[in-house]
Amino acid sequence: MATDISRLRRFIVEATEIVGAERDEAAVLARIRPLLADLVATDDWLPEEYTRPHPQYYQQYLLHCDPLERISVVSFVWGPGQSTPVHDHTVWGLVGMLRGAETSESFTRDAAGKLTKTDEDLLKPGEVCAVSPTVGDIHKVSNALADKPSISIHVYGANIGAVQRHVFVPDTGEVKSFVSGYANAAMPNLWDRSREVRGA
Ligand code: FE2
Repeated sequence: MATDISRLRRFIVEATEIVGAERDEAAVLARIRPLLADLVATDDWLPEEYTRPHPQYYQQYLLHCDPLERISVVSFVWGPGQSTPVHDHTVWGLVGMLRGAETSESFTRDAAGKLTKTDEDLLKPGEVCAVSPTVGDIHKVSNALADKPSISIHVYGANIGAVQRHVFVPDTGEVKSFVSGYANAAMPNLWDRSREVRGA
């Protein structure tokens, strides 16, 4: 089925305007959050190549990165039973559930490096949650479905695949640096607006 990517393009245009206008993280989150909720409320726009699970690893497909690296938009595809390690982001992020469901377990880390699980949320289609060093930055995310892929759309306040971040081993408090990268080499074409121009 051919998808109409104009919904994603409109979201990216509006989110770019917001990060150009707002410096305050809380204001950025408050304004982008409802736009992301609106984007993931309808599951008809994500091209098929950015929905494909990998048999072993969860996939992070870059859909868009702002030229000034103020935001990036990523499609996370979870195969059945797949999950992240416990990790941080170091920048703000919004997660919108598009398809399936995911579980996010939140952690705090004390001065000695000890991790404590504080919360567990189930994200269902259309729902959005936030992470950041201000609102809580350490979590572990899992596909909540044992038999199907799940897909969430993430927006971050940086080019997230190139950010130096951390994974944590909860039992030992061990910390390792990581840079996530992206699974795709080519990105979706947001800018072929010929159909709407011809139709005008
Ligand atoms: Fe995360």
